[in-house]
Amino acid sequence: MASPAPSPAAPLLAFATITVLVSAAAACSAADRDALLAIRAALSEAHLGVFSSWTGTECCTNWYGVSCDPTTGRVADLTLRGEAEDPVMAPAGRPASGVMSGYISDAVCRLDRLSSLILADWKQISGPIPSCVATSLPYLRILELPGNRLTGEIPQSIGSLSRLTVLNLADNLISGAIPCSITSLASLKHLDLTNNQLTGRIPADLGNLAMLSRALLGWNRLSGPIPTSLGSLTRLADLDLSENKLTDAIPDSLGSGHVLTSLYLGSNRISGRIPASLLQNKGLGILNLSRNAVEGSIPDVFTNQSYFMVLDLSRNRLTGTVPRSLASAAYVGHLDLSHNRLCGSIPAGPPFDHLDAESFASNSCLCGGPLGKCK
Ligand SMILES: *[C@@H]1O[C@H](CO)[C@@H](O)[C@H](O)[C@H]1NC(C)=O
Ligand SMILES: *[C@@H]1O[C@H](CO)[C@@H](O)[C@H](O)[C@H]1NC(C)=O
Repeated sequence: MASPAPSPAAPLLAFATITVLVSAAAACSAADRDALLAIRAALSEAHLGVFSSWTGTECCTNWYGVSCDPTTGRVADLTLRGEAEDPVMAPAGRPASGVMSGYISDAVCRLDRLSSLILADWKQISGPIPSCVATSLPYLRILELPGNRLTGEIPQSIGSLSRLTVLNLADNLISGAIPCSITSLASLKHLDLTNNQLTGRIPADLGNLAMLSRALLGWNRLSGPIPTSLGSLTRLADLDLSENKLTDAIPDSLGSGHVLTSLYLGSNRISGRIPASLLQNKGLGILNLSRNAVEGSIPDVFTNQSYFMVLDLSRNRLTGTVPRSLASAAYVGHLDLSHNRLCGSIPAGPPFDHLDAESFASNSCLCGGPLGKCK
């Protein structure tokens, strides 16, 4: 009975409240704006004016590459890509190729609500990754700094970033070892450290990263064995360890990867035999073991479910014959068995019909197929 009838002004009031909320949401934290200005001051981009929108107070709405949590006004994403296709990048051509120099200021660590930090493909950003990134940015999910000239080491406490799903530092000049703490990044899905100057061993417990689906560590100076633990990564689809100095045999466990589709181990110092499990793996479509010291015979375990877009076993020390079962494979796109010590007649069958002599060149005593009749 006492309940008041809604006054005709109520909808208007509600509308006014929403308006206030929306404009409050747009306001940029003053401390974050200061941090952004300090980040900008350490960088220099002369041709595109990438930072020309970074004026005034509305850093959440108007500043190129910046976005905020709408409820707090705190900066959540900083994304500047030198090869983006945004209008601001148009003067850099298509595909765009922007250039930025300078360094990554420690001020980035004051953006302590940051969920993604992406400064990619600017070619000239140098200096180290501020180590405070690992300790001051607990909400970070994406850290992508590829295609620059970053030096120094990966911050030792990188493992503190418990929410990190993507770590991409490819194509820089980063040196030192991969910190062991990396194995505590329980959410990590994509790890790309390709083409740096990393040394030392691959952390033995890398297989702890249960969510990992891509691990790209090629083109570094990593040594020691391929960790056996990698075989327990049930989501691992792409593993690239090529062009390093890895030694010892390929762990049998790798072949049991349920979703493994590509495995690049070329140009290392890998020895031992090819695990049969690897060639039996039905999902593996790209296998490159080229330029190693792999020995023994090629396991004769191919089936009509074998489907290889690339099977490159060239430049090893393989002996024995070309396995008969390879003739029953559903598909072999690119086969390279050259520069080994294979002998005997090349089997006949559809997978071999399109191959030329190069696939089998420089072996001990192969004959048949594209090499011509056996004597
Ligand atoms: C296999 O890896 C080696 C070494 O990285 C590389 O030179 C070769 O081109 C690769 N093979 C294929 C077919 O991509
Ligand atoms: C593959 O081989 C199995 C057993 O050797 C056979 O039962 C099956 O019909 C074959 N499948 C195809 C598509 O040829």
